[in-house]
Amino acid sequence: NGEKLTLGIESTCDETGAALVAGKTRLIANVVATSMDEYARYGGIIPEIASRAHLESFLPVVTSALDQAGAKLEDVDQIGVAAGPGLIGSLAVGIAGAKALATATGKPLYGVNHVIGHLAVDQLVNGTIELPAVGLVVSGGHTNLLLITDFGAPGGIRELGGTLDDASGEAFDKVGRVLGLPYPGGPHVDRLSREGTLHAIDFPRGLAGAKYAKTHPYDFSFSGLKTAVARWVDGLERTPEVRNRPDFTKDFSATKEGKPWLPVAEICKGFSESVNDSLVTKTMQALADTGAKTLVVGGGYSANSRLREWLGKECEANGVTLRIPPLKFCTDNGAQIAAITAAVAEAREPSAPDFSPVSALDL
Ligand code: KG4
Ligand code: ZN
Repeated sequence: NGEKLTLGIESTCDETGAALVAGKTRLIANVVATSMDEYARYGGIIPEIASRAHLESFLPVVTSALDQAGAKLEDVDQIGVAAGPGLIGSLAVGIAGAKALATATGKPLYGVNHVIGHLAVDQLVNGTIELPAVGLVVSGGHTNLLLITDFGAPGGIRELGGTLDDASGEAFDKVGRVLGLPYPGGPHVDRLSREGTLHAIDFPRGLAGAKYAKTHPYDFSFSGLKTAVARWVDGLERTPEVRNRPDFTKDFSATKEGKPWLPVAEICKGFSESVNDSLVTKTMQALADTGAKTLVVGGGYSANSRLREWLGKECEANGVTLRIPPLKFCTDNGAQIAAITAAVAEAREPSAPDFSPVSALDL
């Protein structure tokens, strides 16, 4: 029926993904394998393990996506692969695989931006996004504010700002580690924060207020906040009353009579409030400044309950349409790459055959 069939391949971090999209928005297959389970005992991703897992999963994942769609590789019209940003070894495996498929079939290959894919993917689930839109990408690896006027055309995406240090999910994971919670700590910190009392403990906001309104209006910084939390916990640890308690343990998730004996929930609450205040305040500012009436949110951190609640309230109050894809499309996947490839392929030439991964990819 003239609709092009796009194969999207994702391998920027620890997920190997392949998906097929017909036309620009019809998702017909989506398969993801992850090596996340390997990292709990290390407390973080080990790039070498991730690269090897991509190598093992690449063909099975692509094959299973084609099977799911009832398609053959020859039926595919164009192939897209995430060119970055991400772990260089992980990217290299996906790109080498995608080049092999493109060369074998003679199909055009596009190296595309993974971050923009996090936003474009929403169109596969919730339909075409009204532009211009502000995009907020929040995950363990990225925290970006973007202005989207066109998903595919060169210059259609402008970076308004981003984190100067840790990503929002990364900051949550680091605080989780300080509190002795399992990796990744983000969801645990989020869960505990819901049991805390607002303002019981307040932490500073990074790059906030008039001082930064001109120089960093849409930028974020979370590493000072993470240090503030660590210091707060250390301070408690060092008081002899706490240290000499017979039940003292570094495992702060430990409970006494069913309750955590450090104010873990209060710490999580104060920390979560600080991160989300920065995210919401700067995102709403970007919407006001650009006049965009749509906000698209993507990335694994968009699971955060406080962010969802807060953005929902602010968008409603300001007449902004809030678009957040279901969680399985927020974490890394092939569908996001197929979605952005379908848009890019209409506006650009295929990538040169010698293109390389870019670990810190420009937009
Ligand atoms: O997009 P994603 O699955 O992986 C990449 O980073 O690419 O995002 C995972 C990140 C982790 O840092 C995880 O701790 C965080 O998102 N995360 C959360 C929540 N769910 C996942 N952080 C805070 N609250 C949550 N509910
Ligand atoms: Zn991602």
